[in-house]
Amino acid sequence: MKLKNNSFLNTNRTFLLTFSRPYRFTFIGGSLLVLVSVVTGALPVRLVQHFIDALKAGTLDQAHIRKTVLEILGLALISAVLLFYQRRWITSASRLIEYDIRKRAFDFLHEQPAAFYVKHKTGHIMSRLTNDLSQVREMIGAGFLHLWRTGLNGAVIIGMMLSMNFFYAAIPLLPVIILPFASATLMMRLSRMYAAIQEKLSHMNSVVQETFSGIGVVKAYGREAWRLEQFKRANDDYYAATMSMARLMGVIWPLFAFIAALSVILLLFLGGRAVIRGEMTLGTLTALNIYLVMLTWPLIGFGWVVSMIQRGMASVKRLREFFLENEAPVYQGSFSFQEGTIEVKKLSYRYPGSDKDALVDVTLTIPEGSRVALVGTVGSGKSTLVSLLSRIIDPPTDTIRMNNKDINDLERRSYREGVGLVPQETILFSDTLQNNLEFGRNTSPERLSEALAISQLGRDLKDFPQGLETRLGERGINLSGGQRQRAAIARALLRDPRLLILDDCLSSVDTDTEAEIISGLEAFFKGRTVLVVSHRVSVIRGSDYIYVLDEGRICESGNHDSLMRQKGLYVRLYEQQLLQEGEA
Ligand SMILES: Nc1ncnc2c1ncn2[C@@H]1O[C@H](COP(=O)(O)OP(=O)(O)OP(=O)(O)O)[C@@H](O)[C@H]1O
Ligand SMILES: [Mg+2]
Repeated sequence: MKLKNNSFLNTNRTFLLTFSRPYRFTFIGGSLLVLVSVVTGALPVRLVQHFIDALKAGTLDQAHIRKTVLEILGLALISAVLLFYQRRWITSASRLIEYDIRKRAFDFLHEQPAAFYVKHKTGHIMSRLTNDLSQVREMIGAGFLHLWRTGLNGAVIIGMMLSMNFFYAAIPLLPVIILPFASATLMMRLSRMYAAIQEKLSHMNSVVQETFSGIGVVKAYGREAWRLEQFKRANDDYYAATMSMARLMGVIWPLFAFIAALSVILLLFLGGRAVIRGEMTLGTLTALNIYLVMLTWPLIGFGWVVSMIQRGMASVKRLREFFLENEAPVYQGSFSFQEGTIEVKKLSYRYPGSDKDALVDVTLTIPEGSRVALVGTVGSGKSTLVSLLSRIIDPPTDTIRMNNKDINDLERRSYREGVGLVPQETILFSDTLQNNLEFGRNTSPERLSEALAISQLGRDLKDFPQGLETRLGERGINLSGGQRQRAAIARALLRDPRLLILDDCLSSVDTDTEAEIISGLEAFFKGRTVLVVSHRVSVIRGSDYIYVLDEGRICESGNHDSLMRQKGLYVRLYEQQLLQEGEA
């Protein structure tokens, strides 16, 4: 479904209408079926009424019995079929709407810049996509269906009862009429309690998970008792929450049953005397009694539906607010990627919510086709500069120019196509190794084997059970740190980028392998613009130019030899082994 503008986010109503509109005929059809099935469900009682009256009057014959039985059977069959289809139609519409919203949310998430994910934690996003989405689905599906069903059922049955005998129907109805209000109040309480229980449960789970995933540390520090105490507290909290819910549940059903019984008692007491006095037939009393029993559930259910709708609307509101957090840049740029000299000018950057600049007044040049290295202390802003250069974060206007154009003016997708980034933290997906390398594109076998050869991942392949078809665990868990880094390098090489950015991507690779990777990369680097962030002198030395970053500022620059002569930060990093010789 295409939603071009954001007017669907104006109110809860516009949100629901927009997503429901494509399925409106299913809802209308389903609602008609509900109406018919409610009437066919209520009619058999009238047949029973006439049946009993005929029995009492002694006019009942075989033909009447057969006719009644067949009619009730026919009505029951119709009801059953209609019940099946109404449920099926409305449930499938609600599933489709959920599907559409989820897809829309996923598209939305993909458009969001890195800054969005700094602000919104994964747990928060997950809860929108799971919890809130299923609340909305329940409201649209079960909620809509049962609101209709219980409402119509209540109205039809009460109407039938009052039309049969107004007085003797009205009085017994008085107690049960409070059922929907009582159940709405109690159900809302229950769902609040349920939410609290879920929260306590997830807290307890995280205590357990943290304890066992960090069990080595816990034992090494002898902190078992402290963890046990934390667990005991979480467990007690959970127990207390479940018990208060159990207590409320224990009260609810007896209370409802008692109220329903009161109505029946009233009916039998008043109605019985009316029958004796001849003011009402036995059949009518029986029918009223059956209707009264039939009414109990819709009345209780109505309260349940109201609480479900309340929860659903709260989730719709949260989802709308979530979509309104849109931070996707509207401006996508219009020029296509063209390789050229990169000029960074007076670039300062501060992460949202942070109180200090990660980069201050950075000015540097990466000439086309050159290889430039970036070194610096921990947290000096190297990765931040990399994020800005690769437009994971959009840089401030006119601070980064490539081929004399602000990179923000380059079409986003085409810019990213031109850039190959090996980030500091390798991210792999739980998919096959090959899919992780190709990353959604088809590559020629020659290209693949070249990338495998340069990254030195190729020689590990024989150790993998299914070679390139080996499935990686979550986040590439079944690879070593070095293998993960080499997979990330191979992935970037496969893109055949014009600008290659390597952010400290050899830190987990042993020195021998590193030397081989570097010598392979040397050839690959030729004719491309390369930026490397590294602590390894062997990598840095061959660069045309080196910039040294300290607390977000460029403090020195030059080539290895000239920087060694300057006796500044570069030399200090070197002496403190923060820059390491490959063979060290
Ligand atoms: N997502 C973020 N939100 C807020 N501050 C951040 C974020 N990422 C980094 N920073 C801060 O920005 C500064 C620069 O971080 P950056 O990751 O660029 O350093 P780095 O030079 O790459 O360090 P390292 O050598 O450890 O990789 C640090 O002070 C860091 O705390
Ligand atoms: Mg970094």
